[in-house]
Amino acid sequence: MKAMDILKKGIFLFSFSILFISAGAQHTGNDRIEILLKKMTLKEKIGQLNQAMAGWEVTGPSAKVNCRELIREGKVGAILNTYMVDSVMALQRIAVEESRLKIPLIFGNDVIHGHCTIFPIPLGQAASWDLDAIEQSEQIAAKEASAEGLSWTFSPMVDISRDPRWGRVAEGAGEDTWLGCRIAEARVKGFQGKDLKDPRSIMACAKHFGAYGAPQAGRDYNTVDMSMISLYEWYLPTYKACVDAGAGSIMTSFNEINGTPSTSNRWLLTDLLRKSWGFRGFVVTDFGSISELISHGVAVNEFQAAALAMHAGVDMDMMSRAYENSLEELVKEKKVTLTEIDNAVRNVLLAKMKLGLFDDPYRGISKEREQKEIMAPEYLAFARKMVAECCVLLKNDKGTLPIPVTVKTIAVIGPLGDSKRNMLGNWTSAGDEEKCVTLLEGLKNKAGNNVSIIYEKGCNTNDQDRGGFKAAVDLASKADFVVLALGEDEWMSGEASSRANIDLPGVQNDLAEEVIRTGKPVAVVLFSGRPLAISRLNAIAPAILETWFGGTEAGNGIADILSGDYNPSGKITMTFPRSVGQIPVFYNCKNTGRPFRPAEPDQKYVSRYLDLPNDPLYPFGYGLSYTTFFYSNLKVSVNGNKILVAADVKNTGNRDGIEVVQLYIHQKVGSITRPVKELRGFKRISLHKGETARIEFTLTSDDLAFYHPDLKKYYESGEFEIFVGGSSNASLTQSFLFK
Ligand code: BGC
Repeated sequence: MKAMDILKKGIFLFSFSILFISAGAQHTGNDRIEILLKKMTLKEKIGQLNQAMAGWEVTGPSAKVNCRELIREGKVGAILNTYMVDSVMALQRIAVEESRLKIPLIFGNDVIHGHCTIFPIPLGQAASWDLDAIEQSEQIAAKEASAEGLSWTFSPMVDISRDPRWGRVAEGAGEDTWLGCRIAEARVKGFQGKDLKDPRSIMACAKHFGAYGAPQAGRDYNTVDMSMISLYEWYLPTYKACVDAGAGSIMTSFNEINGTPSTSNRWLLTDLLRKSWGFRGFVVTDFGSISELISHGVAVNEFQAAALAMHAGVDMDMMSRAYENSLEELVKEKKVTLTEIDNAVRNVLLAKMKLGLFDDPYRGISKEREQKEIMAPEYLAFARKMVAECCVLLKNDKGTLPIPVTVKTIAVIGPLGDSKRNMLGNWTSAGDEEKCVTLLEGLKNKAGNNVSIIYEKGCNTNDQDRGGFKAAVDLASKADFVVLALGEDEWMSGEASSRANIDLPGVQNDLAEEVIRTGKPVAVVLFSGRPLAISRLNAIAPAILETWFGGTEAGNGIADILSGDYNPSGKITMTFPRSVGQIPVFYNCKNTGRPFRPAEPDQKYVSRYLDLPNDPLYPFGYGLSYTTFFYSNLKVSVNGNKILVAADVKNTGNRDGIEVVQLYIHQKVGSITRPVKELRGFKRISLHKGETARIEFTLTSDDLAFYHPDLKKYYESGEFEIFVGGSSNASLTQSFLFK
């Protein structure tokens, strides 16, 4: 730490300790907060509940205010979107040296898939099924973000979604609640580490509470209307998993649930979150959502909106300024009590204490630390490995991939072949597109001098211009192998990026047709923030590799797969529909009273479409490898409360490979209907060619439990089926009775 920093820290500790002297010597964190609360004016208390923007804005209008002045007056508790040592120090210095009570600020930002070193988008990360890697990516993100002064991230986003039209599926873990919970836990652990006082950790914020991933028609911000039982069974557990993992904060969502917006929902924020789940952190709104209560139609004005949010249990107002503008008056008019305000302030101050901000408001930041942490070579190496782990091989006819070693000229064709910006994906925090490796660059890095890599864009991502087709086809004719880089632009997924048609945009399908018609071997490298409905492409492309948006090292990681240096192991965590008309299509659906039986395709009065099969293009849990795996010898036995499952998995191809072995359950008869399959376990295993491993799982009655109409969760004895396999289509099955 530099002399200046030490001096600043000294001044802060001296001034801050004065606040506590009158009350005696040693104080616990809680005592310290109570002492502080007693010294605070109402205005200063309200200030702690106000999050303001000092930097740039990303997602919504920000009132242009003089943030420095507000901090000086004690009217701001947290800052949004400011990072980097100088900026953070400058604002924190005002808070801890120039404001009356010297309460430090929390600096928050959306660190969603890396801070400077950008990893694949979260939906891509989920496809790795590698919980350790996911946790480690958040550790790296926390180290980089904290080195730049951030102490809080608005992550993980744990919204379960069954609708790929919704652009924000890119930020989540996909459609499955059980897997979503495991990933949520890993992310919270990664960000927060063992102790938030460690200055290299940052506080997590589980979002968007709740059920934001179920908007009607997949349109962002839209109404959520669902049965309580579905809410409890599918949509709420991931937030609870974050709470149980110790997440320091939780963010309300923009949507309403069954008529009440989350931000004014006392049942959600107080009865469920605090009373039933025992949440001890603080609740922040999503961007400006207190004022949005007016548009929702539950408040006439900002004044009433602020009261509703406070009664519901919102501690901090992100960017609507409704608390700042109304709370004082609301207290005067006795529409909000001081106790409510004190409780909210306590929650915020406690978080600051847990983060160690009262001991070192700068959390040890320095230019040196920033330089050392940001994009350290080991972080980039890790990011590259992660890109490869996240890619999913959807199709590979006749072993088109990996690119044969005999190939001398590779043509990269397509609008995403050399696009730096599109490698980052949405929510890039401090990611720098200039530092991203494109697919073209990655292949060039890999090929060295022996192979020539040539490139044509062919068309844009999203318009009707076919002017580049001829050059693309000519280029393909000159090559031994073609890599078609197609997909969405990164801005087409993420917030406010719902799409009604989720096929390849623009004329990319036409480009693919013309290039494939040359007869050259072609592999499609697909970039997207969601499952796309690519039936047309799928019908003609011999090989398709889904790569999401891979981040800084995207091109290198993809090249590792295309070359065969990494054998693909990713499996999709969200169903790929054949067409938008199938949505919502997800693996853990119900059987219905008139299930469609593929063996009797002409049946009419069954649950089916006249013009499409029921099954999706690619099911949940699916992904190919350059080798093959064979499952056999499933054995299920029950021992007391334990269900022991074992199966043999053999690598039957001629390459070493990684397989994600998945276990699904199905209860045959219940007091209420049960899904046809439910994921309850997986193991990511590595097998040499020819090797067989016996894979074992242990389940307990908890894994069989489900929510009942009284919203209580318990299991029912009866007959169950276990399925083990490499996707949700797993057919190796055995039934058992559980008492
Ligand atoms: C998004 C949140 C985000 C917040 C702050 C909102 O628009 O919904 O996910 O954390 O902005 O950037």
